[in-house]
Amino acid sequence: MCGIVAYVGERTAYPILIKGLQRLEYRGYDSAGIALLNKGIHVYKCQGKVKDLEKHTNGNAISGTIGMGHTRWATHGEPSDNNAHPHESENGKFIVVHNGIIENYAHLKKELINRGYNFKSETDTEVLANLIENIYLEKKVDAELAVRLALTKVVGAYGLVISCTDEKDQLIAARKGSPLVIGVGDKEYFLASDATPIVEYTDQVIYMNDEEVAIISREKLDMKSIQNDAKVPKIQKVDLSIEEIDKGDYEHFMLKEIYEQPSSIADTYRGRISLDKSKIFLGGITEALPAIAKANRIIIVACGTSWHAGLVGEYLFEEYARIPVEVEYASEFRYRNPVVSADDVVIAISQSGETADTLAAIKMAKEAGATIIGICNVAGSSIPRETHAGVYTHAGPEIGVASTKAFTSQVTVLTMMALLIGKKRLALDEITYSHMVDELTQIPEKIKEILKSEKHIKEIAETYQKASNVLYLGRGCLFPVALEGALKLKEISYIHAEGYPAAEMKHGPIALIDENMPVFVIATKDKSYEKIVSNIQEVKARNGKVIAIVTKGDTVITNMADHVIEVPDCHEALAPLLTVIPLQIISYHIAVLRGCNVDQPRNLAKSVTVE
Ligand code: F6R
Repeated sequence: MCGIVAYVGERTAYPILIKGLQRLEYRGYDSAGIALLNKGIHVYKCQGKVKDLEKHTNGNAISGTIGMGHTRWATHGEPSDNNAHPHESENGKFIVVHNGIIENYAHLKKELINRGYNFKSETDTEVLANLIENIYLEKKVDAELAVRLALTKVVGAYGLVISCTDEKDQLIAARKGSPLVIGVGDKEYFLASDATPIVEYTDQVIYMNDEEVAIISREKLDMKSIQNDAKVPKIQKVDLSIEEIDKGDYEHFMLKEIYEQPSSIADTYRGRISLDKSKIFLGGITEALPAIAKANRIIIVACGTSWHAGLVGEYLFEEYARIPVEVEYASEFRYRNPVVSADDVVIAISQSGETADTLAAIKMAKEAGATIIGICNVAGSSIPRETHAGVYTHAGPEIGVASTKAFTSQVTVLTMMALLIGKKRLALDEITYSHMVDELTQIPEKIKEILKSEKHIKEIAETYQKASNVLYLGRGCLFPVALEGALKLKEISYIHAEGYPAAEMKHGPIALIDENMPVFVIATKDKSYEKIVSNIQEVKARNGKVIAIVTKGDTVITNMADHVIEVPDCHEALAPLLTVIPLQIISYHIAVLRGCNVDQPRNLAKSVTVE
């Protein structure tokens, strides 16, 4: 949610900022802006995307070796030129870009208005710029102290880059709740919301911690706490290559990421499964394993697609490890008064590792004494830092806003965890365990087979591209796949779609079925196969159009459904990993056919750092 990039060094800042913003555009794309600082002060900003900002700067002064940029996902104030960042303080002393939310901004704004300040935007960020300036001018302190004093008055989350026009050769950065990474070069520093704008220039990075402030000039970097305690920055090598954040020959990141799944799933289990495919090692949770194995219950907290992965996890943990599981929307869990104790294990699932609600939920559960386990994709992000133990999914950077490969990697980790814990608790016999591990390693090849049917799936997309409503049905661990299929369709093609447990259809949604209603039914061969065949008959009896995802060679459903998409046979617990693939592909093609922006769907952002 909002992306920040900044540079201080000897190169021209402009191209670094623009390219950086393009890389961060997945975090928000309703307006963009930059400030170029040391050769005069030039602020350019406008509603729209980074390409609109480039047009806007065309022909203007773009020199300068210090600068900052921002791509916005609107929270306070609609997307507009005025509300775009960077924001300047009233007397032009401070320029600020911000990712996060200043919760007490209304109160601070009122105080500043009483002191004679005027505001040009509706944003919380402009309040912060004026608050810093007010302290700077009234207390006659330097910029760094003004920033630190201002931050002691702020309630909320921020990743900030600030420049004082009296101290133009330095940038001040601060973090609380929203991520900030510093790239360390030779007499140059880069700042960004994640490492993607930085890797092209340096692989040495510092992940800022909460309540840290960095004062950065070409010559040096000083880190301290908001309270002025010195901090020693920990420089790490970033594990990210430029190819990973490039679209390559694909038209969209989403399609690239769909096609990456055979390798991203293999990367998830690589080094974690013994060569004879009979054992699982999850180094990140080895120490926590006894606590997990004797847990009273597991509570999974997550949002969106990660929540759907959690629902698959519920099925797997209960079936194979025999531990009761509750899957909670992080946003609901944290605002209830949930009963959590030291005997509970809380698993937080998050691609970005930054989702504000998930982060808040685990902080709450930690205070209640529970053991907190993370399943995250982005190394060094906030959630892994708050957990007692965890497993990275290693899916590689996911840039398309609609999650695809992160989901299958999360399900892969959950499968490995369930099997490992099941074995430890003696809930799972050795033969079933080894057989399932072996089957898991066959998934990448099976996905490759499904990807070969893209053309057939695209033809189905052509038939249903104009649908206004779509239903998705599944049972057991395929019910979360139905939810995920529906979410993929609605978020990128803006078609209303709903996922239901297939048997629930007759309790309400069946009223919607007529000849205009496409119904995706995930109906691979498993223990509820006969039941789902009946559900398909119920849809057909009402003239609904059935698109069934079936096990290769299925003749029963093939004779009933309007269209079938075959997936290879697999162990029923692994079917979510296969059946979600055609649903991702069909959503992708429907969205493309409808002319939608697949990688940057309207109103969405990849990393939801607001509550
Ligand atoms: C949907 C999607 C979102 C995210 C959700 C949680 O395609 O990507 O629903 O799954 O915002 O994000 P993470 O996993 O980063 O916590």
